[in-house]
Amino acid sequence: MSTFEVNGRSFSAEPQPGQCLRTFLRDLEVFGVKKGCDAGDCGACTVWLDGKPFHSCLVPAFRGEGRKITTIEGLAKNGEMHPLQKAFHDAQAFQCGFCAAGMIMTTATFDQTHKDDLPHALKGNLCRCTGYRSIDDALHGKVNIEDDVAGRACGASLPNPFTDAILTGKARYTMDVAIEGLLHLKVLRSPHAHARITRIDRTGALAVPGVVAVYTSEDVPHRRFSSALHEDHLVDPDDILLLDSVARFAGQRIAAVVAESEGAAEAGCRALEVEYEILPAVFDPVAAMEPGAPLLHDKDVLTDSGNIFCDLQGEIGDVAQGFKEADAVHEATYSTSRVQHVHLETHGSIAWKGDDNRWHVRTSSQGPFVVQKKLAHIMGIPTRDLHVFTERVGGGFGGKQEMVSEDLVLFATMKLGRPVKWEWTREEEFIGATTRHQMTTRVKIGARRDGTLTALDVHVVSNTGAYGGHGSETLGAAMASPLAAYRCDNKKGVGYAVYTNMVPGGGFRGYGASQTTFAIECAIDELARILGLDPFAMRRKNVVRPGDNVESIWKEPSDASFGSYGIDECLDIVERALAKGNGVSRPDGADWAEGTGVALAMLECGPPTEHRSGAEMKLLPDGTYHLAVGSTEMGNGIATAHRQMAAAITGTRASDIAITNADTDRTPYDTGTFASTGTVVSGKAVHITAQALCDDILDFASRHTGADRDQCRLDNDAVLCGNRRILLTELFAAGAKVDHRFAASRKAYLSPRTIAFNVQGVRLAVHRVTGEIRILHSVHAADIGRPINPMQCRGQLDGAVAMGYGWALTENMVHDEGRMVNPQLRNYRIPAFADTPRTDIFFAGTHDTIGPLGAKSQGECGINPIAPAVSNALADATGVRFAHLPFTPDRIFSKLTAP
Ligand code: FES
Ligand code: FES
Repeated sequence: MSTFEVNGRSFSAEPQPGQCLRTFLRDLEVFGVKKGCDAGDCGACTVWLDGKPFHSCLVPAFRGEGRKITTIEGLAKNGEMHPLQKAFHDAQAFQCGFCAAGMIMTTATFDQTHKDDLPHALKGNLCRCTGYRSIDDALHGKVNIEDDVAGRACGASLPNPFTDAILTGKARYTMDVAIEGLLHLKVLRSPHAHARITRIDRTGALAVPGVVAVYTSEDVPHRRFSSALHEDHLVDPDDILLLDSVARFAGQRIAAVVAESEGAAEAGCRALEVEYEILPAVFDPVAAMEPGAPLLHDKDVLTDSGNIFCDLQGEIGDVAQGFKEADAVHEATYSTSRVQHVHLETHGSIAWKGDDNRWHVRTSSQGPFVVQKKLAHIMGIPTRDLHVFTERVGGGFGGKQEMVSEDLVLFATMKLGRPVKWEWTREEEFIGATTRHQMTTRVKIGARRDGTLTALDVHVVSNTGAYGGHGSETLGAAMASPLAAYRCDNKKGVGYAVYTNMVPGGGFRGYGASQTTFAIECAIDELARILGLDPFAMRRKNVVRPGDNVESIWKEPSDASFGSYGIDECLDIVERALAKGNGVSRPDGADWAEGTGVALAMLECGPPTEHRSGAEMKLLPDGTYHLAVGSTEMGNGIATAHRQMAAAITGTRASDIAITNADTDRTPYDTGTFASTGTVVSGKAVHITAQALCDDILDFASRHTGADRDQCRLDNDAVLCGNRRILLTELFAAGAKVDHRFAASRKAYLSPRTIAFNVQGVRLAVHRVTGEIRILHSVHAADIGRPINPMQCRGQLDGAVAMGYGWALTENMVHDEGRMVNPQLRNYRIPAFADTPRTDIFFAGTHDTIGPLGAKSQGECGINPIAPAVSNALADATGVRFAHLPFTPDRIFSKLTAP
């Protein structure tokens, strides 16, 4: 037996042959060591060997023997955080926190030379959430947090309630648990884009030592479902089986192997013998709409429209007449690429049977309550027999508004009676999870000489891939806010969501609206150019105003209305900031061209379909509170915001409120944390619940003291009743004597929906020969109502803007006959520190009358104006319109040098 010294403790253990240090340490229950890739690309697994940082996924475990291994858990000394942990605390240099351990283990070794060259020094560590600004702040000793003062929680930059646990490695993410007798599940995925499985021989797999079961389509329940999570399941087609006998995209799961170890399960997958009958495949949605195109599904799934899963069309006014009245018309086609969420924590879940004889599923999900309903449907069991919950979730961005792992682990555990875990690899994320829908949008837009729009006509084709979850809803979103953002009497839209043999589309931050915002914002700029108008003036002239009907292409009235209005202020802020400049010049050389661009985005806060949420809050014997909310905290900071909202109402400190999230046993129902609902729906539930509890406490205090009710008010840890001050602990004790429980529960629904805006300004330099783009100045203004936590809102926007730059400039899923050829972080390229410009972020000074405590949605829409602002700046710099994402150097070069 070998001896390993980890964080000063000695372990006797023998690594498996070929085992890496990362998995070895996790086998020792050192869970602060994370996995983002297992390929040396992300740095989430960084540990020290004799004081030097290494990506532990690249280090053979046996090399750790005889060396001092330090992980995030071993960094604090004598109960005192390491200075870097403290710096990350004070700057709040994380959101989901999944990257934080690796970031700290890397940066804690930095000297001044490293700090002076962070783009280079941080090239081995990726963060998907923060846009790196807060990490940069931490490394420069910036303090972003404020004091937690009773009664002043709302609007304060308070730290995340789980900060210490995250930064010391104690926070438990989905996979950070040791369970006795745990089995591991792995799946074999189809190498073919379209194929019928004619034979699977399990003999070889079952002969692999440690393999306990192999499941194929013959073994599983044949109840179709959609993996998409929505309140109304009818908005998504039931087109998926647990395991199918037909593979419709390269990467679809076709068999599951369960074994005593992950290695054995993987070996079992490799040992399966599968015969396929290759079927004709179609990848292009336009080709898939043609008569005679290969059909993706059988008649029981498809309608008479063949592969067209959903078509939407509508018109207000008379578009043909509108174009007749136009002095200038622009028409062009724009297309957006398929991209992946790349939440650093991959998908995964663990299922087991509890002592209560119920099934428990621990999962990385944005919607555990809807997962519970879907699992009950598939397995044919009552929901009461199922408990679905999240621990800390390492990012979502819409990718976890999807049930893609829970079904198989529950099925296997129900079959085998043992706990079963399935943790996805990074490659599986790229080939087997959902992506942003690729959309192609033709825009025709006309205006009078003075810039007044007369007609807007949009034609959208969305490639929904092999399965249709989110296909109709993203198409609906694509044809909603981006068109409704502009006043125009004549609007028309036609859209199709089409099945193809591609990896399925799904929910993704911006949710369809990102795609058509790109097209329309580019088209508005082109029209302004034709008319010789300034792009800011063009937008000011046409953007919707209070009192307008907020309408896109449908005649039916909408429940979206202005609870506040700040687009005018956002446009002013960005225009002023760009005009003022930031002193960054374009690089020297005649081949560099410089240009400036702007784009706006509008967001109806919440989906047009149902969304509901509940909250429960109670006073505890020690005078503090407990709040239970069904929404998921996945780095969006919703737990921090909810706590601040409750503290603001009860007049206490946020730190005096404990919070439980996203648990079907322990929190009230919540549709899910997606579609910009965390603040406006579950936040509203928290608001009215805290208010109800406050009323209950004051009513009781009034009765207890004899003071008039209007003489009673909450004051931190006490109630003031006239001149008398009663501690909440005393009040609780008095209540207990008469069996009075201080508790409240309320529910919130979405409608009406208020409206938020974002404006992005970009000044860039582009090299005409190499195609390199450098962002010289990036300015973002957001109309999000009252920021509940300004630091956190800024962090969300930093992350959204960085993700937007990734979509515009570096990220690209390259497919060949439906097979992704670059399913690794090093080849897919989410923005690293070096790729991410620092963005100046501003808020409009609005206070919303619909959203709770004046707030609106804030985390989602920031991504939408980035790509069009970059395209508009490129057009300004070069005179050439780049209409197809992403703007990679080769594309820039090809287009600028085309004859
Ligand atoms: S998990 Fe080791 S570098 Fe990503
Ligand atoms: S906070 Fe860095 S990946 Fe989420």
